[in-house]
Amino acid sequence: MACHKVAAASFQLLSLVSFLLFLNPYSSIFLEASTIFANSNTVDDERSNAASIEEERKALLEFKQGLQDPLLELHSWVGKDCCNLHGIICNNQTGNIIDLRLQDAQISGTLSINSFSGPLPISIGNLLHLGYLDLSSNSISGPLPISIGNLLHLGYLDLSSNSISGPLPISIGNLLHLGYLDLSSNSVSGPLPISIGNLLHLEYLDLSLNSVSGPLPISIGNLSNLQNLNLFSNSISGSLPTLIGNLSNLQNLKLFSNSISGPLPKSIGGLSHLQTLFLSLNSISGPLPTSIGILSHLQTLSLSSNSISGPCHFQHQLEIFQICRPRTFPITQSQELRLAGSAISGPLPTWIGNLPCLRWLELSNNSKMNGTIPESIGQLRELKNLFLHGCSWEGFISENHFQNTSRLDSFYLSSEAFNSLVFNVSHDWIPIFNLTSLQIIDCKLMDTAFPVYNTDWFWRFSPFLDGVVLSHNQLRGNLPKSVSSPLQNVILKNNSQVGSLPLWPNVKQLSLASNRFSGPIPLNIGHEMSKLVFLDLSRNYFSGNIPRDWTGSLDLKIIDFSNNKLSGEIPSSMCSQLPSLKWLRLSNSNLSGNLESSLQTCRNLSALDLTGNNFSGTIPDCIGDNLHTLSYLLLGANKFTGNIPHQLCDLSSLQVLDLSQNNISSSIPACLGGLKQMTTGDGGLLGNSWVMNLRISLSLYGPMHIDLNVKGVEYEYIDNILGLIKKFDLSSNNLWGEIPEEVKNLMALGSLNLSHNHLTGKIPEGIGSLHELEALDLSSNHLWGLIPSSMTSMTSLSKLNLSFNNFSGPIPSANQFPTFDPTSFEGNSGLCGPPLPTQCSSASHNDLAPKVEEDEEDKYGKLWFYASTALGFIVGFWVIFGSLVIKRSWRHAYFQFLDNMKQALLLLLEVTRLSRSLRAWKMVD
Ligand SMILES: *[C@@H]1O[C@H](CO)[C@@H](O)[C@H](O)[C@H]1NC(C)=O
Ligand SMILES: *[C@@H]1O[C@H](CO)[C@@H](O)[C@H](O)[C@H]1NC(C)=O
Ligand SMILES: *[C@@H]1O[C@H](CO)[C@@H](O)[C@H](O)[C@H]1NC(C)=O
Ligand SMILES: *[C@@H]1O[C@H](CO)[C@@H](O)[C@H](O)[C@H]1NC(C)=O
Ligand SMILES: *[C@@H]1O[C@H](CO)[C@@H](O)[C@H](O)[C@H]1NC(C)=O
Ligand SMILES: *[C@@H]1O[C@H](CO)[C@@H](O)[C@H](O)[C@H]1NC(C)=O
Ligand SMILES: *[C@@H]1O[C@H](CO)[C@@H](O)[C@H](O)[C@H]1NC(C)=O
Repeated sequence: MACHKVAAASFQLLSLVSFLLFLNPYSSIFLEASTIFANSNTVDDERSNAASIEEERKALLEFKQGLQDPLLELHSWVGKDCCNLHGIICNNQTGNIIDLRLQDAQISGTLSINSFSGPLPISIGNLLHLGYLDLSSNSISGPLPISIGNLLHLGYLDLSSNSISGPLPISIGNLLHLGYLDLSSNSVSGPLPISIGNLLHLEYLDLSLNSVSGPLPISIGNLSNLQNLNLFSNSISGSLPTLIGNLSNLQNLKLFSNSISGPLPKSIGGLSHLQTLFLSLNSISGPLPTSIGILSHLQTLSLSSNSISGPCHFQHQLEIFQICRPRTFPITQSQELRLAGSAISGPLPTWIGNLPCLRWLELSNNSKMNGTIPESIGQLRELKNLFLHGCSWEGFISENHFQNTSRLDSFYLSSEAFNSLVFNVSHDWIPIFNLTSLQIIDCKLMDTAFPVYNTDWFWRFSPFLDGVVLSHNQLRGNLPKSVSSPLQNVILKNNSQVGSLPLWPNVKQLSLASNRFSGPIPLNIGHEMSKLVFLDLSRNYFSGNIPRDWTGSLDLKIIDFSNNKLSGEIPSSMCSQLPSLKWLRLSNSNLSGNLESSLQTCRNLSALDLTGNNFSGTIPDCIGDNLHTLSYLLLGANKFTGNIPHQLCDLSSLQVLDLSQNNISSSIPACLGGLKQMTTGDGGLLGNSWVMNLRISLSLYGPMHIDLNVKGVEYEYIDNILGLIKKFDLSSNNLWGEIPEEVKNLMALGSLNLSHNHLTGKIPEGIGSLHELEALDLSSNHLWGLIPSSMTSMTSLSKLNLSFNNFSGPIPSANQFPTFDPTSFEGNSGLCGPPLPTQCSSASHNDLAPKVEEDEEDKYGKLWFYASTALGFIVGFWVIFGSLVIKRSWRHAYFQFLDNMKQALLLLLEVTRLSRSLRAWKMVD
């Protein structure tokens, strides 16, 4: 079809367009609007229009060259007539491209490329007549080109879910007709340009899930037609501009998960059409302005995880919630009040019961909220989610608190005030609601008839329970053998439950830690509980062997059986049957055997903790060969013998190595100084991408997701067992030889313990480079020499133990050294100076070699030492004086001289030490 053109320009038409734009700048009207615009060309423009179509066609084809298009969506983009191409609509009179839509087409590339036919880059900005552009959900990268500002007719721009980076160009402010702008889920950075305030027709602005920073520009107050402003999950800082209150058509304001600070401006009362206000996860402070109370359309007020302060009598602010507006469409529109995790104080007022349409009430984690929970919450007949955990409640919760809450679905309760909240409902109470999620932590559970509750009772809360958290409640009794509800998440840790392990088929996460369960772990657990992801049975009295058959549990990621009475070996098939296993913790039981066969197939483990068992034999080489992803290897307090296999040095993710309290006799492999995770600063717990995912999923959904707390427990668990992030513990073995010089490379190490071994030699001078080291224990070895002065630069060091060695000379006095206790240095007869009572005489500035307990081997070692020192002296002498004599350039020689003086002094020290040592040696002989 040939594109033809009708000349029909009129001022009236233009005004009509503006009017249409004003009414509804996006949606299909735009198509027409752009059409009409194009029509407004005069007859004189005929030739130039033909040229412009040619330009557009060329731009389009060149643009295509720069794109990758695996689905061949752009395959048709050849030939002269561009108007029939896939995703393109032309104006049927002028032939100009007015509409480009290629959503979710797996296209990658940039919006601007260097032209092969001209000097200027070709970009999307060359399609001058575009009214509608949708390239959402592709893989477009690079910045939004400045030339986007040429698209003066653009009414609809959707580039969401791509990889666009860099700041928004100022030229975006040229798009005066833009009604819809969606750049969400990209990597846009930098502040919003002031020019955004020119987009007076904008109704929808979405830049959520980007990296936008800086404060919101004041000009945002110009956008008087804006209905939706979504900027959540960015890095916006500063306080909310007062002019935000001018957005009188705004219906949804979503700014959660940013760094917004300062108080909420009073002007917020100007948002007279506001329905949802999502500002959680920021740093907003001060009290709630009373002007919130005039927002007559407000349905959701979410300010959780901020620093809102002041007493909790928000009658004025929440007056609006007293009116039940008809529920229009989505249920989520019904009223929600989320004020968790702030600094709100005082009691919850009784009038809270006057908010009859409240569906979601979240006041958790306001530790300054105190007093009793008013029974009036029982009148909230629409209430579905009630979160009252982490406040300082006291008094009783009774049936009256649930009188009319027949829609209650999730209920979380705990008190920060110790032992002050009593959950007291009668034993035969039948709740009028069916919960899917219940969490009661650290409460006194009481009943007039029974002094404590049996867990059985809690299943009555609902036949539909999905998640149950009842930790720290002194619960007693057995668990039911089966449950009718589709239970998936069960956290019952820290109670006094007895009996055997129940096999509940749907459970994914089960923690029964710190109870009094006993008996064997059922052999068929792998089949009966095949959906398990997380299984924590630690701190109980489980006995017998670890089940051999795990074939059903394909998703099991975490196993913690620590602190039980399990015996026997780790079944050799365990790892091969558990392909998802990341975390295996079997510490402090009676397990035994050789690891060689058990660990052959454990290829995906991140953490292995076998501390405190009776495992024996050598540490198998296969750990280094197979367990490439291992971050935590804890084998302490067992009966391992042999040496430290060099293969451990290949564990590039290793962050914690604990081989303490075994009978390992070898030298310390120098290659351990090359462990990648310990030599680089990044990573830490977060270096483990799997843990990282967990953390991200938590922070993203934050307080908005009901399953947060069950996941939260998992998270807490992971953090707890890994209190110390990067750690090396080889203490209490039979290690000999010197501390390898390579230790200086472990710059990310937080704790190093080599105590209670037979190590000899001096502390390597390079140890001063361990700037992250917080704890260093070298006690009870045969180390000697001066405490290297470089150690004063280890400014993180807060725990130091050098006791019971043969160190000598003055204790360094710089930086944090004076803060160490005398016990850090005791048992070293040659050490002097504070904090020890021994004064340093001039003679004690020496580096005394050991005088005690020498065997033949040590003597030969020492002979070699003296020989090499003497050699060093001779070589050193000639290097220094030789260089002084030979140097020609005096200026150079002067500096060289200073440097040489320093070396000479050091050398002198060495010589003195040599003579002292010789004397000491003679004395021993
Ligand atoms: C242009 O074409 C479309 C369909 O291709 C039609 O619906 C529309 O009415 C046409 N517009 C004009 C102004 O002819
Ligand atoms: C937008 O607001 C700024 C100040 O907030 C003002 O100077 C500017 O003139 C406004 N722009 C338009 C187009 O109204
Ligand atoms: C904002 O609103 C106030 C009062 O409603 C008005 O005086 C002021 O001119 C408005 N500012 C802008 C930039 O629109
Ligand atoms: C409340 O505190 C708990 C424990 O500190 C935390 O896991 C949770 O994320 C917090 N929730 C909110 C909504 O702040
Ligand atoms: C709540 O806490 C405040 C401040 O600590 C205290 O003054 C007040 O007495 C407490 N109220 C109750 C009911 O415990
Ligand atoms: C609450 O339920 C009781 C019956 O249990 C009823 O008499 C009362 O009217 C209800 N109150 C409200 C506010 O719905
Ligand atoms: C709770 O579930 C039971 C059993 O299915 C049902 O009889 C009852 O009506 C439900 N109650 C509510 C309030 O939905």
